[in-house]
Amino acid sequence: MAPRWLWLNVLGALAVAGVRESLLNVCMNAKHQKDKPGPEDALHSQCSPWKNNSCCSVNTSHAAHEEQSYLYNFSWSHCGNMSGKCKKHFIQDTCLYECSPNLGPWINVVDVSWRKERILNVPLCKEDCDQWWEDCKADMTCKENWHKGWNWTTGTNRCPLGSMCEPWPLVFPEPKDLCEKIWSNSYQYTPFQRGSGRCIQMWFDPKEGNPNAEVAKYYSRAGRGGAARLPLALLLPALLVLRTV
Ligand SMILES: *[C@@H]1O[C@H](CO)[C@@H](O)[C@H](O)[C@H]1NC(C)=O
Ligand SMILES: *[C@@H]1O[C@H](CO)[C@@H](O)[C@H](O)[C@H]1NC(C)=O
Ligand SMILES: *[C@@H]1O[C@H](CO)[C@@H](O)[C@H](O)[C@H]1NC(C)=O
Ligand SMILES: *[C@@H]1O[C@H](CO)[C@@H](O)[C@H](O)[C@H]1NC(C)=O
Ligand SMILES: *[C@@H]1O[C@H](CO)[C@@H](O)[C@H](O)[C@H]1NC(C)=O
Repeated sequence: MAPRWLWLNVLGALAVAGVRESLLNVCMNAKHQKDKPGPEDALHSQCSPWKNNSCCSVNTSHAAHEEQSYLYNFSWSHCGNMSGKCKKHFIQDTCLYECSPNLGPWINVVDVSWRKERILNVPLCKEDCDQWWEDCKADMTCKENWHKGWNWTTGTNRCPLGSMCEPWPLVFPEPKDLCEKIWSNSYQYTPFQRGSGRCIQMWFDPKEGNPNAEVAKYYSRAGRGGAARLPLALLLPALLVLRTV
C-alpha cells in the first residue's frame, strides 16, 4: 500500500507543480497576441496598465481603441453610435483580452479558423461588470451574443435581418447577462470584489502592480476553476494528494 500512495503523491506533486507554472505568465494563441509576454513601454492609453508585462504589441494597443479596427473589423456602433462612457468598457475589455498575461487558467483550445485558443469563464470582478452594464444601459444593441450571427456582407458587423435595435436592458436585463453572454461565456459573473484576489480586474491602477497575477496563481492550483482543462490523467493523482494531506 505505502509505496503506491507514495508514487501517487510524487506524480501528483509533479502534476501540480508543472501545471501551475504553465498556466502563469502566458499569452493565448489567438489572433494578435505575442508569443510570450514582455515589456511594452509605449502601450496606448487604456492598455497602458499592462506595459510592464504584456501580450499585446504597441500597434494592437492603439487598434484596441479604434472603432472597426483592423484587429477584427468589429463595430461597437451597430445600433447608432455607442456612447463614449459605454465604449470605454469595450476598449478595456479589448485591452484585457489582447494584453493580459494572466488569463492562463481560463485558456481553452478551440477549433476555428481565426484562433487556436480562447478564454472561457474568466471570473470577472463584480464591480467591473456592474459598472460596464451601468455605463451602457442607455445604449442600444440588437444582439445578446456579439461573437456570432452578424451580417458581415458590408465588411463590418451589421445587425442581421429580423433583429431589432433595442434598449440595452431589454437585451441584457442584468450585468450578469452582459458579461457572460456577450462573448459566449468568456467571462463569468462573480460575487467577488476588486482587490479580493479571487477575481480578474479589467481595470487596475498600475502604480500598485497588476492584481491579476495573484488571481491567476490562485486559480492555477489543481482542483480550482482552472483545473477543468487539465487532462484527467494528470488531475487524478493531484486530487488524490489533496485528499490525503
Ligand atoms: C505597427 O504599425 C506601423 C505603422 O502602421 C507599421 O509600420 C509597423 O510595421 C507595425 N508593426 C507591427 C509589429 O505590426
Ligand atoms: C477587415 O476588412 C478589410 C477590408 O475589407 C480586409 O482586408 C481585412 O481582411 C478585414 N480584417 C479582418 C480581421 O476581418
Ligand atoms: C457617429 O459618430 C461619427 C464619428 O464620430 C459622426 O461622424 C456621426 O455624425 C455620428 N452619428 C450620429 C448619428 O451621431
Ligand atoms: C445582409 O446584408 C445585406 C446587405 O445589407 C442584405 O442584402 C442581406 O439580406 C443581409 N442578410 C442577412 C441574413 O441579414
Ligand atoms: C511595473 O514595474 C514597476 C517597477 O518594477 C512597479 O513599481 C510597478 O508596480 C509595476 N506595475 C505593474 C502594473 O506591474
